[in-house]
Amino acid sequence: MADKPATTLRVFFALWPDRALQTALHNLGNALNPDCGGRAVRQETIHLTLAFIAALPADRIEALYAAAARVDTPAFDWQVDLLGYWRRNQLLWAGARQPPEALTTLVGRLHAVLNDAGLAFDDSKPFVPHITLLRKARCKQLVQPPVALDWQVREFVLVQSEIAAGGADYRVMRRWPLG
Ligand code: 2AM
Repeated sequence: MADKPATTLRVFFALWPDRALQTALHNLGNALNPDCGGRAVRQETIHLTLAFIAALPADRIEALYAAAARVDTPAFDWQVDLLGYWRRNQLLWAGARQPPEALTTLVGRLHAVLNDAGLAFDDSKPFVPHITLLRKARCKQLVQPPVALDWQVREFVLVQSEIAAGGADYRVMRRWPLG
């Protein structure tokens, strides 16, 4: 008889803005809502995904923690100064005109430690740093943000995503400081 399928966890690594920045990002999305329609991401769930792991076997969680602990890249500051729209998946997002090198380094290192540990993640598309603000958006034109938002990145987190009636529920499982 075939083994019962193992329990899996829907988890992802992310940068999680503090509350003030989440509010500012939420306001940015709301300002575009009249032009773009769509559904605003709930303020308290606004984040930037670093690596998405669709189905982690529950018994691999310690291996995932150990891999993340091997990330040794520095803390950094950057500015969110760009709005983008992807027609194909109807996402309005915020990002940076020039993504910081330290973010690229962090993501590269994270992906490398996951690969080394044999932990699968979604690498089907090239990494584009983006913070989703509106889903199911239909933007005809984009007005760029009037001001840049400062983000001082001091840690990254592992988040569990649970699909709930009102959308996804997110729970931060663990945090790792950046050097
Ligand atoms: P998105 O905002 O561009 O949809 C939780 O779903 C987070 O993981 C979201 O930030 C989502 O990005 C991101 N993500 C990346 N790849 C994903 C995938 N294959 N399926 C679902 N979410 C994914």
